[in-house]
Amino acid sequence: MKDIRFAKFLVLVNGGVPLALLAWDASQHQLGANPVNFAILTTGMLTLVFLMLTLCVTPIRKITGWNWLIFSRRTFGLYAFFYGCLHFLIFFGLSLDRPFSVPNALSEMFKRKYLFVGITALLLMVPLAVTSTNAMIKRLGGPRWRALHRLVYLVAILGVIHYYMQVKIDVRMPLAFAAVLTILLGYRLISFRRRPPLAQATAAKPKILSGA
Ligand code: HEM
Repeated sequence: MKDIRFAKFLVLVNGGVPLALLAWDASQHQLGANPVNFAILTTGMLTLVFLMLTLCVTPIRKITGWNWLIFSRRTFGLYAFFYGCLHFLIFFGLSLDRPFSVPNALSEMFKRKYLFVGITALLLMVPLAVTSTNAMIKRLGGPRWRALHRLVYLVAILGVIHYYMQVKIDVRMPLAFAAVLTILLGYRLISFRRRPPLAQATAAKPKILSGA
């Protein structure tokens, strides 16, 4: 891939398209009978989709040898965090009886267990977002940065559980996400096991983490 800057631009712009569409539809009162719920569901889905895209980058790179794809991993991850924050803010600010009320939000979380799982996933994404810059990668050092960023596996698992728990009848979609996630994590497990012991021990060595 010669023009990485153009590819970066494409990923950046396309990641923002769902937000622009959502904002446009909201401004036109086109979000249906329950616009707040529609916005929560849409941003929740986007969070999960971007998490999955983040996890797709490494297997695709390794299978195809398209190492240039690494540039997109951070952007996908940051979009996942961004949509996750938006998802939470819409819930916190627009869906509760008393908007922006911490006690109200906490009592909801204890009542509805899937919210508890969701907030845990979102909080776990904070250190990942904060340490996503090149400066932070240098500061932490490769091994520690890579160890910390394995948290994304847990975040994705919690995201799928959160989705599964809140679905009332048709669980096919959350199960489809669970299947994709199993493949993505299974691939990592298998390729780790296939490495010779020395390579496993040094797996935490610094690598080029993004095309930035
Ligand atoms: C990584 C974090 C999270 C992910 C991946 C995620 C993902 C999702 C998904 C996929 C849905 C269902 C979308 C659909 O049915 O189309 C959803 C629904 C929902 N999520 Fe999250 N979520 C996360 C965090 C949170 C947090 C922090 C909260 C609030 C504390 C939250 C509150 C909700 C609510 C209220 C719904 C709608 C439930 C309903 O209307 O039945 N989520 N989320």
